[in-house]
Amino acid sequence: MEDTAVLNTNIIVDSPNVVYTDSEIISSYDYSDARVHGNILTPTTERLVFKTERHVPRVGALLVGWGGNNGTTLTAGILANKLGLSWETKEGTKTSNYFGSICKSITVRVGIDDNQKPVYVPLNNVIPLLDPNDLEIWGWDISGVNMGDAMRRAKVLDWNLQQQIYPMLKEMVPMPSIYLPEWIAANQEDRADNLIHGTKFEMMNKIRHDIRDFKNSKGLDKVIVVWTANTEKYCVVRHGLNDTAEHLLNSIREDSDEVSVSTLFAVASILEECTYINGSPQNTFVPGCIELAERFNVLIAGDDFKSGQTKLKSVLSDFIINSGLKLQSVVSYNHLGNNDGKNLSTPETFRSKELSKSGVIEDVVRANRLMYKYDESPDHCVVIKYVPFVGDSKRAMDEYVNEIFMGGKNTIALHNTCEDSMLAAPLILDLIMLAELCTRIQVKRDKDEKFTKMHPVMSILSFLLKSPLVPSGSPIIHCLFPQRYAIINFLKALIGLPPESFLMLEHRLE
Ligand code: NAI
Repeated sequence: MEDTAVLNTNIIVDSPNVVYTDSEIISSYDYSDARVHGNILTPTTERLVFKTERHVPRVGALLVGWGGNNGTTLTAGILANKLGLSWETKEGTKTSNYFGSICKSITVRVGIDDNQKPVYVPLNNVIPLLDPNDLEIWGWDISGVNMGDAMRRAKVLDWNLQQQIYPMLKEMVPMPSIYLPEWIAANQEDRADNLIHGTKFEMMNKIRHDIRDFKNSKGLDKVIVVWTANTEKYCVVRHGLNDTAEHLLNSIREDSDEVSVSTLFAVASILEECTYINGSPQNTFVPGCIELAERFNVLIAGDDFKSGQTKLKSVLSDFIINSGLKLQSVVSYNHLGNNDGKNLSTPETFRSKELSKSGVIEDVVRANRLMYKYDESPDHCVVIKYVPFVGDSKRAMDEYVNEIFMGGKNTIALHNTCEDSMLAAPLILDLIMLAELCTRIQVKRDKDEKFTKMHPVMSILSFLLKSPLVPSGSPIIHCLFPQRYAIINFLKALIGLPPESFLMLEHRLE
């Protein structure tokens, strides 16, 4: 007999703290922690009320860089799932799935049954989530190649699958985009043939028009914009340029050279009240852009999809340091041969990626000043090389060296073949699905009159991002398990269930 049970239906919580109406789930939730004063700790509990709309509206996603490896893989993958396609490979028949998406492929422990067995439900049965098969998808690309040929150019999916999907994808052509060559590598110039022209202000307005047009023509309630275009170089943050919303809007009106393309897309989305997600490492969200999102109460999330090597690093550094071993050196080599790798082969764009990859071990080190002195941290080095032959099949090789008991050393070497875009596409889906959920949530403190939306900076999505953007003054969490349980426990809070404690006292007491 199985020692766990899986419930494949929507769940109903029977509790005086949870009310279901036709349109909402209202949960009163006790958020517990402890306040620390010197060495005195006082447990605290604050009652919060969450209100979640039950109805999932009609949602569309607009991808910037739609014709790239991620954009084509995601679009083809959704289509294949929608149509229930299967295809032959030398290893046998493969069928469409959403592996790699936590919203579609993981289960959550919600309690125990009468036999004290843990019961799990799929994550998307905890709270109503968007079904990716219902997602309308479209986008912009500086390359005007149709999506069928762009999928072939990407060389990611199996040929037999491509053959089945090609006729449908070839009818889809990306909308023209903004191209400012100085922001990405010069080696991208030969694909830039599908462009908007004009001043920055005019081009941004064209993007706003495209968003409205997409929403109206497809009859959508909500649009989410995702940057999955090339990594840009970092932009300067300067007083008068982009430090406030007003300064940023002025800089756009004045056609300032130092406003990046991705910031133009972010501002356009915010002004159209559309959630904006940055899947690349650059600092799109300059302070003025964040202030604008706060002013318009529009949700934003970033930066840089966390798919392969960094995800593993955020597990391993946690595992090593929280086993009491002193991680002293992390060296990561990557080589990849896709267009992302080609773009990253210039120093400015590489620097954006290097910075994004470097922060990942910081929080776990900072939390342990027992082994690490103040200001001490492990050596951490990241190398990325462009090797066309390996295509999208990125290789990531890491060496971790730990100091162990009584002067010993423990060395861990890893080889990770990433299949980059097939790892990234389901993450993009999760970001869209969870961000959409966040737009349906309102919250208030018990004593407050009014409900408000979530904080515009969605740090709850950190699990999916290498360099999580957080509200000003909030700690940044990189460790994967705390990030994952932040999502799971948050979804449980929305239906009035306690956080996963792992205590299992029902099995540990006499
Ligand atoms: P890609 O190079 O295949 O696709 C990027 C697309 O963006 C290209 O089609 C290009 O023509 C287009 N583009 C460039 N500038 C544009 C603009 N201004 N407007 C519209 N389109 C523009 O790259 P891929 O592999 O799809 O990755 C996309 C981004 O996601 C990169 O920045 C990469 O660093 C980031 N990323 C990817 C991960 C992965 O595992 N695939 C993981 C983490 C981040």
